[in-house]
Amino acid sequence: MQGRTVLLVIGGGIAAYKSLTLIRELKREGCRVVPVLTRAAEEFVTPLSVAALAGEEVHRDLFDLTREAQMGHIQLSRDADLVVVVPATADLMAKMAGGHADDLASTLLMATDKRVLVAPAMNVRMWTHPATQRNLATLKADGILTVGPDEGDMACGEFGPGRAAEPEAIVAAIRDALDPQRPSPLLLGPEVAARPLAGRHVIVTSGPTREPIDPVRYISNHSSGAQGTAIAAALRDLGARVSFVTGPATVAPPDGVDVIRIQTAAEMRDAVDAALPADAAVMAAAVADWRVANASDQKMKKSRDGMPVLQFAENPDILAWVSGLADRRPDLVVGFAAETNDVVANATAKRLRKGCDWIVANDVSPETGTFGGESNTVTLISEAGAESWPRMGKDEVARKLAGRIAEAL
Ligand code: CTP
Repeated sequence: MQGRTVLLVIGGGIAAYKSLTLIRELKREGCRVVPVLTRAAEEFVTPLSVAALAGEEVHRDLFDLTREAQMGHIQLSRDADLVVVVPATADLMAKMAGGHADDLASTLLMATDKRVLVAPAMNVRMWTHPATQRNLATLKADGILTVGPDEGDMACGEFGPGRAAEPEAIVAAIRDALDPQRPSPLLLGPEVAARPLAGRHVIVTSGPTREPIDPVRYISNHSSGAQGTAIAAALRDLGARVSFVTGPATVAPPDGVDVIRIQTAAEMRDAVDAALPADAAVMAAAVADWRVANASDQKMKKSRDGMPVLQFAENPDILAWVSGLADRRPDLVVGFAAETNDVVANATAKRLRKGCDWIVANDVSPETGTFGGESNTVTLISEAGAESWPRMGKDEVARKLAGRIAEAL
């Protein structure tokens, strides 16, 4: 990021304060930050504090005749390497989607020829409102990059999605967006940019499996299917055809994917087998390691002869099996690992043992709050080594992973 210039548009929302931390972090990385404040933003942060932190003149929604005579707004938006909007309020997103240019911020967002990254933040109901979701879809189709929002307690007292992504996640997204290896979606054209996985087929396994003891009882685990579902949705958003093989999860499967419902590990393996060939496979399911070998086909009754004795047999390891396929192995096979300690060492060993290309290692030690929480601390292990991602929402992890898969394919 050293020597790069970010044009930071600060929108008028409670989350505007996060832009101050963001400026500090970007400056620490050697980035130049040119700040623009909307009229409403000035109600939340002062131009003076922004100017002091950025060490730059703050551009405000005031018409400066000299500047306009020199087409200042166009220059501003072109001199930057990246345009970032924090927070992207419902109103700013609507303006961007509608192509409005009635103030400095919206004008330069229209005039730029650079990538644009937005960090939406608003009340839960405003975020889930069909108008906002429609605008979001338009912005994505236009090749605009997004980071967040996260789920959690909101300043307005409600709970749900709408909280601005944390500054460290925004910095990570900026780093990705500035990557010269990735051509600007604006230059590529919206169709290609928004759907880099068009024509690709990806298999995603998700949720728990259920291993019967008898017709009414089973052994299973607490997997909600949240991360696998988010990954399937993110891959779909990038244009992939997704075969979503899911056990009985608590989270509903995403729209727009082929849902294949299974119960047992053996059924999951068969479903994956039937869905092949694929360009990539992402194994996010929490597959039961064992099944009951002596499962009864009738309900087991209490008996005076003592307790039933269950015998176990090992389930097929679907990840290892797919990774080892000679003729039908997908180009990219991604597994997951839940680790509480020695995350990198354990996950690196697991990658080699299973023969997959990448392992997404989750740090599930209790202090991370990953289990049952809405965010995740992830390390991506590949042949190239281990890459730690900042703590981010599960949706964000899914989008970042889907982006990486698109690049790799
Ligand atoms: N997996 C699979 N089939 C199995 C077991 C696991 O496809 N029968 C996949 C999971 O979907 C996941 C990865 O393998 O991608 C997890 O491997 P596993 O060995 O179960 O590791 P952990 O769950 O992390 O647990 P442990 O290290 O205790 O074995």
